Amino acid sequence: MGFLESGIEEFLGDWIDQDDAVLAAMEEEARERSFPIVGPEVGRFLAQLVLLSRARRILEMGSGFGYSALWMARYLPSGGRVIQTENDPDNVDRSREYFQRAGCEDRTEWHLGDAMEIVSGLEGGFDLVLIDVEKSRYPAAFEQVRDRLNPGGLLVVDNALWRGQVANPNFQDSSTLGVRKLLEAVASDRALLCSLLPLRDGVLVALRR
Ligand SMILES: C[S@@+](CC[C@H](N)C(=O)[O-])C[C@H]1O[C@@H](n2cnc3c(N)ncnc32)[C@H](O)[C@@H]1O
Repeated sequence: MGFLESGIEEFLGDWIDQDDAVLAAMEEEARERSFPIVGPEVGRFLAQLVLLSRARRILEMGSGFGYSALWMARYLPSGGRVIQTENDPDNVDRSREYFQRAGCEDRTEWHLGDAMEIVSGLEGGFDLVLIDVEKSRYPAAFEQVRDRLNPGGLLVVDNALWRGQVANPNFQDSSTLGVRKLLEAVASDRALLCSLLPLRDGVLVALRR
C-alpha cells in the first residue's frame, strides 16, 4: 500500500537504485506475495542505525523471509549477529536461502516460533531490537525486551503510525490499539529517549540511556 502521495512515493522509490541483487530479489518476492517487508527506505535507515550505534548483537522480532535482517546483517562488524525470530517455517526456509545466496549465513541465527517465547529463552542483552510482529502483540513484545536493551542500545519499531490509524480515535481494532499502547509505554519510560519518524509507515526509534 502507499503511505505518501503517489508522486513522492515514486520519487523516493527511484531515488537510489537497488544495487544489491539479493535484496532486489527479495523485494521482487515481496511484491509477488504482497508480503509486508520494511522496504528499501527503512532498510537503508536500519543499516545506518547499525553503523551509527556500532551494534553487534541484534534481535529481530518478526523476521519474515529475512529482508530487514539482511539489510542489518550486511552492515554488522565481523563477529556481529542478527537473531531472527519468525513463526512461519516457510519464511524461515526462504530466509536461509537468501542469506546463503548473500554469503551472510555466519552473521545470523534462525529461531522458529513465537518471538516473545523465544526471547524469554535467550540470555544476555541486545544492542538493537527491531519489533515487527503482529501489531496486537506490540505491547507484549516491548514488555519482553524493555529490560534487555544494553545501555546505549536502540529499540526500533516498524509500522509505528499504522497507516495513520494510531492518530485517529475512530480506529479501535486490536492492531491499532496494540501500536497505540506500545507508543504510550515507550513515551512514558524515563529510561528511553524516543523519536517517532514519519518514514514510510512510521518508525519509532528509542535510545536506552
Ligand atoms: C511484517 S512481517 C516482517 C517483515 C520483516 N521484518 C521484513 O521487513 O523483512 C511480520 C512477520 O512476523 C511474523 N510474526 C507475526 N507474529 C509473530 C510472533 N508472535 N512471533 C514470531 N513471528 C511472528 C509473521 O509471520 C511475519 O512473517
